[in-house]
Amino acid sequence: MPLRDLFVNNAAWAEEMTRDDPAFFSALADQQTPRYLWIGCADSRVPANEIVGLRPGELFVHRNVANVVVHSDLNFLSVLQYAVEVLKVEHIMVTGHYGCGGVRASMQNEQYGLIDNWLRHIRDVYYRHQSDLDDIEDEDLRVDRMCELNVVEQMANVCHTSIVQAAWSRGQKMWVHGLIYSIKDGLLHTVCSSINGPDKMPRPYRVTR
Ligand code: CO
Repeated sequence: MPLRDLFVNNAAWAEEMTRDDPAFFSALADQQTPRYLWIGCADSRVPANEIVGLRPGELFVHRNVANVVVHSDLNFLSVLQYAVEVLKVEHIMVTGHYGCGGVRASMQNEQYGLIDNWLRHIRDVYYRHQSDLDDIEDEDLRVDRMCELNVVEQMANVCHTSIVQAAWSRGQKMWVHGLIYSIKDGLLHTVCSSINGPDKMPRPYRVTR
């Protein structure tokens, strides 16, 4: 059986969790009450729950290539709406990672196929910051800086969604954070100040009901 090892691992894991806490799975089956929404890269080296030491049920997760937040992405918007309006998460964490292949590709002039259309959102960010970025001689450092700028951009995109703004105008307490993860040492860092209301957003992006 091709996935034999994984089924063996799974059975061992389920047994260990149950030994730890006999009511664990029955409690999870009733409901999930995560306080956090993680928006991260699909990169296999960035396992959301593990990095922040949270168990199943504690972190609601959305991942895509290069942690991009696109206003017409129904997949992302559905996750966000459910997290904000039903689960009522208190923290939305936009989490990039250094050395991101998607970010690197968006800074190059090579075609990769369909994914170029997705990465185009990041290419626009690169274009806006190009002069600052081009001052950084080392390519890896340049990509890493771009990874940080991408987090700031996607964090702003989260704040600009009608879903987040409607929640804030209802008085719902919710923070949006910009974070970045280093694959080299496993540490998470803050990229910029967190936002908990519309006052820091440029006026044209503010919408109320
Ligand atoms: Co990545």
